[in-house]
Amino acid sequence: MGVCGIVGYVGHRPALDVVLGGLRRMEYRGYDSAGVAVLDGAGRLTVERKAGQLANLEAELDAVGRDGFAGTAGMGHTRWATHGAPVDRNSHPHRDATERVAVVHNGIIENFAALRAELEAAGVELSSDTDTETAAHLIARAYAEGDTAGDLPASVRAVCRRLEGAFTLVVTHADRPDLIVAARRSSPLVVGVGAGETFVASDVAAFIEHTREAVELGQDQLVVITRDGYTVTDFAGEPAQGRPFTVDWDLSAAEKGGHEYFMLKEIEEQPDALANTLRGHFDGSGIVLDEQRLADQDLRDVDKVFVVACGSAYHSGLVAKYAIEHWTRLPVEVELASEFRYRDPVLDRDTLVVAVSQSGETADTLEAVRHAREQKARVLAVCNTNGAQIPRESDAVLYTHAGPEIGVASTKAFLAQIAANYLVGLALAQARGTKYPDEVAREFAELEAMPAAVRKVLSTTEQVRDLGRRIADSKAVLFLGRHVGFPVALEGALKLKELAYMHAEGFAAGELKHGPIALIEDGLPVVVVMPSPKGRGVLHAKLVSNISEIQARGARTIVIAEEGDDRVRPFADELVEIPAVPTLLQPLVSTVPLQVLAAEIARTRGYDVDKPRNLAKSVTVE
Ligand code: M6R
Repeated sequence: MGVCGIVGYVGHRPALDVVLGGLRRMEYRGYDSAGVAVLDGAGRLTVERKAGQLANLEAELDAVGRDGFAGTAGMGHTRWATHGAPVDRNSHPHRDATERVAVVHNGIIENFAALRAELEAAGVELSSDTDTETAAHLIARAYAEGDTAGDLPASVRAVCRRLEGAFTLVVTHADRPDLIVAARRSSPLVVGVGAGETFVASDVAAFIEHTREAVELGQDQLVVITRDGYTVTDFAGEPAQGRPFTVDWDLSAAEKGGHEYFMLKEIEEQPDALANTLRGHFDGSGIVLDEQRLADQDLRDVDKVFVVACGSAYHSGLVAKYAIEHWTRLPVEVELASEFRYRDPVLDRDTLVVAVSQSGETADTLEAVRHAREQKARVLAVCNTNGAQIPRESDAVLYTHAGPEIGVASTKAFLAQIAANYLVGLALAQARGTKYPDEVAREFAELEAMPAAVRKVLSTTEQVRDLGRRIADSKAVLFLGRHVGFPVALEGALKLKELAYMHAEGFAAGELKHGPIALIEDGLPVVVVMPSPKGRGVLHAKLVSNISEIQARGARTIVIAEEGDDRVRPFADELVEIPAVPTLLQPLVSTVPLQVLAAEIARTRGYDVDKPRNLAKSVTVE
């Protein structure tokens, strides 16, 4: 995970300065609002929070005066919106009704709707749309009454036991300016151990200028920090151990999580991006979308689907077409958003337009959405940026929770888009009854196994990096694939163009003989994405003959194939093995070596892979 930035401090310095410094160090992660809380010895807990950049928060602190923030214990947060738009009242820290407890949170509390209903039934008024605020109220109640009364760590533990999902929580109470409590489940949390001061953070970057001595907490652990040190327990209160380590990064590397480039960090984050995108979208009986402003009947009435998107997002749509048609028996057209409205597409109220965009601000996609709505089509956005324009103008939304993507080249957002598009397909199939609930559950379980498969690919990338260095001076590279491997070939070529400024083309392998084979010359690298020999047996055999044809004409064949695919081995000058996964899910693993290859070729050629020339992360002009 690791989406929001969190820092907490108990020590001898002014906490506000330490916390703001920590938040600044984590700015690289991207965020849409920020906030701080400081405790002083006189039992005052002072909070300030603001939508937008840290500069907005600092201006607000100057406006209200920093005198109220004089304590040496405090915490801060930079938020990347998940539940609730990025506005002041949804920014962290969140407090309970008495304003004695403050909480910052990273992650998603999956059972927050039930917890919220419980609090409302007990007469608690919630002041934000977030899942986090429920934790603040629950902890305040646990601290006020029952077995845990007056014991902040025990109160936090009791609430953690009730939370489902992934979270890092940092909690303060005005009664306890001497300590801060933090807890984690499936979301990062590290302790920084200094002399007479202790830190907690989602990322060592937050405290690395003060100490390099760190302790990583394990799953379902809680830590209490004071200026003299820290104590770890599990959620039942039993003593537990963190993993101490010494940070050996310098400051600039720490901001990129120890990586040379954001893109390399984002490639590594793909298993988490996938897991977070899937999390909370299956409730035991079916697929759940995020903001559903469409009636079930609308989904049942859909008779045609368009996916509109640009660049990598468009490729994610091409991948999804295979799955959505197969699962729903609906025709799916995938269209470049920039072309869509200029050709007068046939749309009506039974057409579902799926608009896929990482940024949610891409002008071509936004205009396609507006055109579709004018024609009365229903629009469902798949977007990585909460509250962006495209989701705001759509009838329904499914957010990819890939976290902020800073490298211009799309990597983790692309994989998350494929997963989210698949969820849309399954939601349609369940609404239309083309899949039984147990079949939907099975497909979802297969998707849930994908983060582990991607992690496996990531553990074996050295071979691909070495290959990248060896072919970095090639004039051009071709990419071939069939079925879902065809859009993967297009994506591999796009990555190479934008990062390495190298001529690269992706083709459907069956088209080769209709023209592109004329391009093959001695030594030309050709990357081939093989289908599974089991899943698409006929296509596999055809692709093996395509490879033998190009190899016979002198191409240097680089073959991405399933482990144990012995039939293709004799035709592969370089064989890159990927784990065997279900046919429709193969793009989630086969794309990864192509991303690594493009990044390594670009690095070898001396280019900045985060900021390729002539490109912007978000293209807000048509
Ligand atoms: O923010 P969006 O997903 O709408 O962006 C679409 C394209 O501009 C984007 O995918 C672009 O192609 C990437 N640079 C590809 O790596």
